[in-house]
Amino acid sequence: MLRGSVVEIPYEVPRTAERIIVLGVESTSHTFGTGLIEYVDGKVRILANVSKQYVPERGGIHPREASQHHSNVAHLVIEKALEDSGVDIKDISAIAVSAGPGLGPCLRVGATLARFLSSYFNKPLIAVNHALAHIEIGKLASGFKDPLVVYVSGGNTLLAVGRDKKYLVLGETLDISLGNLLDTFAREVGIAPPYVRGGNHAVDICAEWGGEFVYLPYTVKGGDLSFSGLLTAALQKAREAKTAGREALGSVCRSLRETAFNMLLEVTERNLVLTEKDSVLLVGGVASNTVLRRKMEELEKIYGVKYYGTPPEVSGDNGLMIAYTGLLLYLHGVSIEPSKLTISQRLRLDDAYAPWIKTDEKPIGSKYPMRGAEAIVTPVKIANWVLVAKQRVSKTYREEVFNRVFISQRTRIEAKVLSDLVSRDLNVPAPVLIDDHNGLLVMEYVSGVKLSHIINGLDTLTLKKVAERLGCQVARIHSAGIYHGDLTLANIIYSPTTSDITLIDFGLSGYSTEEEEYAIDIHLLDKSLRALAPQLAEEFFTTFLESYKACYKGNVEEVLRKLKEIRLRGRYISKELRRMVRKDSYA
Ligand code: FE2
Repeated sequence: MLRGSVVEIPYEVPRTAERIIVLGVESTSHTFGTGLIEYVDGKVRILANVSKQYVPERGGIHPREASQHHSNVAHLVIEKALEDSGVDIKDISAIAVSAGPGLGPCLRVGATLARFLSSYFNKPLIAVNHALAHIEIGKLASGFKDPLVVYVSGGNTLLAVGRDKKYLVLGETLDISLGNLLDTFAREVGIAPPYVRGGNHAVDICAEWGGEFVYLPYTVKGGDLSFSGLLTAALQKAREAKTAGREALGSVCRSLRETAFNMLLEVTERNLVLTEKDSVLLVGGVASNTVLRRKMEELEKIYGVKYYGTPPEVSGDNGLMIAYTGLLLYLHGVSIEPSKLTISQRLRLDDAYAPWIKTDEKPIGSKYPMRGAEAIVTPVKIANWVLVAKQRVSKTYREEVFNRVFISQRTRIEAKVLSDLVSRDLNVPAPVLIDDHNGLLVMEYVSGVKLSHIINGLDTLTLKKVAERLGCQVARIHSAGIYHGDLTLANIIYSPTTSDITLIDFGLSGYSTEEEEYAIDIHLLDKSLRALAPQLAEEFFTTFLESYKACYKGNVEEVLRKLKEIRLRGRYISKELRRMVRKDSYA
C-alpha cells in the first residue's frame, strides 16, 4: 500500500472512464493525516499518504492539546500530500473527511478544514465513518471480499461482518478497548509515554523482562469480551511487583498481553465457527502488534482460512483510508452540503451506510460439522450405545500454561454442570466419562442438527414451537442457578423427528445467582439470531421471551431490566436498535 501502487477494488463498483481523485482528511485522535487516491476503471492508485502525530509529554491524549497540534500541522501535511501526489488541488474531484467517532476538538479541526476546502474550491464533500474506513482500507489491502473483521484500536475492539449495505457487529468489548487496556496499563505503571518505541508498544518491551506467568482475569462472554477486570487486576499485581524489581513487572506485562490477546483470539474463533467466513481480516491501530499478528496467523492452520493483518502504514489512523472510503461513497453518489456536515464523537459502525456491501446469502452448516471453537467431537460406539467424545485441544497461539488450565477447567465445569442439569431432567447430553486432565469428555449422543444450520429453512409453526421450548428450557436452567455463557444458535440442537431442543457446549457456563449472567445468555442468543437469521429474529425472540417469562422461577423483571441495560451498554449498537430497546419494542 505504498505510494504509486495500483490496487484492484475488491467489489463491483460503478465503472467510469474519467479520472477521479479524492483527498481525505483524518483528525479523529492523535493523528492528523491527508491521503490522496486516484480511481480509474475499477482500480485505485495510491498517490499520497502523509501524517503527523501528536505525542503527549505525559499522561494520555489531551484532546485540546491534540487539536492544537492538528491546527498547527494541517497546512504542512496537506501541502506535502499534494506535493507527493503531483496533483493540483483544482484537479481534485472530492474532499472526504473523518466525521467520527473520535475526540470532539480533534474532529472539529478536520471538519472545519474540509468544509473550507469543499466550499472554496467548489468540490463535493463526503463525510466518512472512521471505523468503516479502517475496515475498507484493510479489505483493499487484502483483497478480501467478505471476511470476518477483527477491529482493534485505542477506541474500538469489535468483530464484524458485512451485511446488506452495512456492517453487523457480532462481538465487542463490553467496556474498554484493547488499545486502551495496553496504553492505560503502560501509563499507570510508569513505562509510557511514549507508548511506542521503535515500532514496539511499551507493554511488549516490558514483556521481554519477565519470566513466570501470573494468573489474571480472563473474561469471554460468548462472542464478547471484557477488559476492565483484567486491567484492575494487572495494575494490582504490578504494584506488588514494583518492590520485587524489573523481572516481576515484566511477568505482569507478559501475562497481561497474553491474557488479552488470547481472549481476542478466542472470540475470533467463536465468531469464525458461527459465521463460517473463509477469511479473517485484522484492522485498526493494534493490528500492527507483531505478537498479535503471529497469534492470528495460527488461525490459517487451525481453520484453513485466509488471514491478513493490515500493514502498519495503513493500520493506524491515516488520511488514505478516509480518501479511499470517501471514493467508494462518491462512486455511489453519496456527498453532503458543507453547511450540513456534523461530527459525532460516538458514531457507530453499524450506522454507517456502505452501499457496496452485498447480503451474504451463503447457507452455513457444512464447514465445521464436528468442531466448535475449542474442541473436536468424534462419535464413539460401545455395543449399541452411541456416544460422542469431546476432546478439547491445545491452541498453538496460546502459551502452554494457558492451554493446560483452560482445557482442564473447562472440561471439569462442563461435566459438572451437565450432570447437574441431567439430574434436573433438563435436555442436555449426559456426561458418561471425564478425563479433565487431558480435556476429554465422553457424553451421550444427541441426534439432530444445529439450529444455526437450519433456522432459516423452518416453517413458521415449527419456529414458534422451537422458540417456546427454548425459552422454557433456558428459564429452567437459569432457575437452577446456572448460566450457559455461550448461548448461540450453534449450541442449540434441534431434532426434526421429535422437535426436541437440546443445549450443548457448556464450557463457558457456571453457577451464579446474578441476574446479569442470565441476561447475558439472552443477549447472546439475540445477537446470534440477528447475525444468522435477521428476517426471523424479532418474531423468534419475542416468542422465546414470552416463554422464558412464564417458566422462570425468580425475579424475571430483574432479568429483563438487566437485559435492557446490557443492550444499551454495547458501545457500537445501531441508533435504530437503541431506539427500539428504549421503547421496549423487540424486547
Ligand atoms: Fe482509528
